[in-house]
Amino acid sequence: MSITSEKDLDGLRRIGRIVARCLQLMHSKLEPGITTAELDALGGAFLASQGARSAPRLTYDFPGDTCISVNEEAAHGIPGVRVIRAGDLVNIDVSAELDGYFADTGGSAIVPPESKLHRQLCDVTRQALENALLEARAGAKLNRIGLAIETEARRHGLTVIENLGSHGVGRALHEEPGFIAGYYDKKDRRVLRENQVITIEPFVSSGAREVSENGDGWTLVTSPGVFTAQYEHTIVITKGKPLIMTLPA
Ligand code: CO
Ligand code: CO
Repeated sequence: MSITSEKDLDGLRRIGRIVARCLQLMHSKLEPGITTAELDALGGAFLASQGARSAPRLTYDFPGDTCISVNEEAAHGIPGVRVIRAGDLVNIDVSAELDGYFADTGGSAIVPPESKLHRQLCDVTRQALENALLEARAGAKLNRIGLAIETEARRHGLTVIENLGSHGVGRALHEEPGFIAGYYDKKDRRVLRENQVITIEPFVSSGAREVSENGDGWTLVTSPGVFTAQYEHTIVITKGKPLIMTLPA
């Protein structure tokens, strides 16, 4: 969507803050012994307490309120009986709707003890998001986002998942502009416009360039021993720095 009024901006901010707080809450409950279903229930209860509805459930009939992806799982993990263990790398993705507005956020976290690789993956992915945010302004080519992400990943000998990307959001979970690559796609001639609402969500991996569905209809995996981190914000494009909607305060 494109923001056309204060009401739009307020509506998006409201749901942005809710998903950000939900993510923060779920990260704080991440510890060995909790199952991903228990974690999801905490997030789902928080969303409900705010009057918000899970976007993946609403949009795709996803069997959970949030997506929780552990270790070799990169995205769209179904909450279930999997037990979180010490040393796991866990990605939580929260998207939800309130009053017709949708926001989408996500973040990876390490359950101690941290491995060097997990720490590096998280730090580089977070930096890739920061670098991409600096490129996202009205008039810039959309492919600057992928260039920023890919450059940061490669600088550290890491790879980008090429079949996962950022996207338009706001009045639906996924809308135009569709698939915004996390790598430099020189053929992409699209340009960012003022007031446009998009996500930026780099997926940086310790070696994979692709994810595939694991057979359960949802979960996107690499291969055992290969890890992926993701951080995601919903933003509004301006002539200068983007407005970040998915902050907890
Ligand atoms: Co997301
Ligand atoms: Co997204």
